[in-house]
Amino acid sequence: MKLVQQLMRRRLIVVTGKGGVGKTTLTAALGRILSALGRKTLLLEIDPRESLHQLFGTEPSGGAIVKITPKLGLQNLQPRAVVEGLVREKVPIPPIANRIINSPVFRQSVDGAPGLKEMAVLGYALRTVLGEYRHSADVVILDAPATGHGASMLAAPLDLAEAVSGGQLGEMSRQLADFIANPHECAVMLATLAEEMPVQETIELIALLRKRLGRPPEAVLVNGLYPPFPGKSPSRRAAEPPSLSLWRDRRAVNERELARLAEAWTGTLAELPLLPLTRGPDLLDRMVATMEAELP
Ligand SMILES: Nc1ncnc2c1ncn2[C@@H]1O[C@H](COP(=O)(O)OP(=O)(O)O)[C@@H](O)[C@H]1O
Ligand SMILES: [Mg+2]
Repeated sequence: MKLVQQLMRRRLIVVTGKGGVGKTTLTAALGRILSALGRKTLLLEIDPRESLHQLFGTEPSGGAIVKITPKLGLQNLQPRAVVEGLVREKVPIPPIANRIINSPVFRQSVDGAPGLKEMAVLGYALRTVLGEYRHSADVVILDAPATGHGASMLAAPLDLAEAVSGGQLGEMSRQLADFIANPHECAVMLATLAEEMPVQETIELIALLRKRLGRPPEAVLVNGLYPPFPGKSPSRRAAEPPSLSLWRDRRAVNERELARLAEAWTGTLAELPLLPLTRGPDLLDRMVATMEAELP
């Protein structure tokens, strides 16, 4: 598991990809694997519809850190709450901090300022691994928003650093941008299915990471692959049961899309099968065992 050895040295692992491809499941499985090897790991979920906790069978986080094992925790993080926390830190007089936070101007600028919420989340992750918070961790695995937003999240610090030079915000943006662009500190894991749209988005995201951040992803994880179809005949036979036709067709798409991906990406790639259990701790157990066997 060379990939796992590499991930053991990273301090931030960002898992991104199109919605529904398995980001949350893969985040949870990576968390189990790295924490079992001794890395103190915090899983950060941004999606307000919490689902990470379901894989561990714990209560939802509601913003708090939920301990799963001594080495593994999860937290659902709402960007607005992080920005508010920063205000409270800078303005230690609660009534004044509250006035600022509840003012319409503040609310509008948090929602409207491009990249501010993304910066807040990444900043929270960075301060967690740098030990500036009480709840420090060796590594944060970020279950990032779906591709488009994931990409703008990764580029946000750089965009801001270029727009605002100097000052506290400019400095913080520069520090974050450097951290994300540094492949020794931060890993970007692109999750995808071997289907046309997710593969297209993955190819575009690889190009964007290279062009904008000057770095490739650490690996592409191709999830939910149908098993090879037994027998040779690639075309449908008359009177074949629909389930077999589906299997044959999906697998043909998988193979075509894997080939297309291979033309754009020659780096680390893992192929993960479609598992028979569709949710919860059982699925997570199976995914952990599968990744332990399949990761390159
Ligand atoms: N390899 C797999 N085999 C079977 N089901 C999977 C697999 N990976 C994910 N799932 C299921 O697919 C759905 C989407 O996965 P999820 O991790 O929530 O994706 P995302 O976070 O990208 O939206 C979930 O119901 C999950 O349990
Ligand atoms: Mg998810």
